[in-house]
Amino acid sequence: MNVLVEKLITTHSLTTEEYAALIEERDAASAEQLALAAVHARRQVYGNAVFTRGLIEISNICKNDCLYCGIRRSNLNCERYRLSKDDILLCAEQGYRFGFRTIVLQGGEDAFFSDAVLCEIIAALKEKHPDCAVTLSMGERSRESYQALFDAGADRYLLRHETANRAHYEALHPAAMSFNNRMRCLRDLREIGYQVGCGFMVGSPFQTAKTLAEDLKFIEDFRPAMVGIGPFIPQKDTPFAHEPAGTAELTCFLLSVLRLIDPTLLLPATTALGTIDPQGREKGILAGANVVMPNLSPVTVRKKYALYDNKICTGEESAQCRGCLQRRMESIGYTLVVDRGDVRR
Ligand code: 5AD
Ligand code: FES
Repeated sequence: MNVLVEKLITTHSLTTEEYAALIEERDAASAEQLALAAVHARRQVYGNAVFTRGLIEISNICKNDCLYCGIRRSNLNCERYRLSKDDILLCAEQGYRFGFRTIVLQGGEDAFFSDAVLCEIIAALKEKHPDCAVTLSMGERSRESYQALFDAGADRYLLRHETANRAHYEALHPAAMSFNNRMRCLRDLREIGYQVGCGFMVGSPFQTAKTLAEDLKFIEDFRPAMVGIGPFIPQKDTPFAHEPAGTAELTCFLLSVLRLIDPTLLLPATTALGTIDPQGREKGILAGANVVMPNLSPVTVRKKYALYDNKICTGEESAQCRGCLQRRMESIGYTLVVDRGDVRR
């Protein structure tokens, strides 16, 4: 067996240089060894269960201007929307009926969703569905804001770190966004008591084996509950429109590595992975992922939440996606469970 693969399986850790070498020198054999070990590690903690989260994209209005993202402020071709509290509660209620026990509210950094507005929505969700976890993915906010949302009942927060390398971060974001603030947010969220998810795109412009190795080392040290990774996919109205997309192959390889770094991790097989490869989500699960996050947004707004081009599931109803994923997971020997899907530590 590849010596680095063997070391990762036995110690759950490599040096940054070793992670870079593992990535750079990867081949079909090391990928298969990692996937096998990753699936075994996941089975010990989670069995054959695949957790689901119902994702509601509550607003595509964003004050930021990330160079890779289709809902960036500068994109005048993006038709903006925001959902009302009633819209959101309706989506959540449907989701509940379809068996979702985690509701994720995701959106751009839209000032309309002040603490007062969001707290009211969170409290209403928790009152109607006390057996559900509420996850937020609403970007960078102050510590006081994160605390208020937590006190209102939010359980989890997703904020991808995007890259653990400062220079790389600065190449992906405008000067107004800071790496330090991103990291400050993640630390605050964890200290407050959220189950925290970080993550990064695979194959983003300027990414190297070294920056990926730094991502892995960061995750090893930070110990998030969840890590969201998916291929970078160019969006036609962004500065990165003509950059090459990331691959399902490297995404799956990294899913296996992450599973071995921390067997208890919640690892979604993301929509971006399903977009770059029609079998991407199945491949992700077979590489060690254990979560899928189908869309619960109203079909009328789905196409407008276009972070990248050709996103899947923008024409399907929520019920269709649930059924589709159930079949997809069963076809590879897994089952979608009706469960909050908390991290098992
Ligand atoms: N391709 C893939 N993923 C993207 N994201 C944003 N834009 C793109 C893109 N073009 C990811 C970012 C963000 C998450 C919500 O979506 O990592 O954190
Ligand atoms: Fe949406 Fe398959 S998951 S159609």
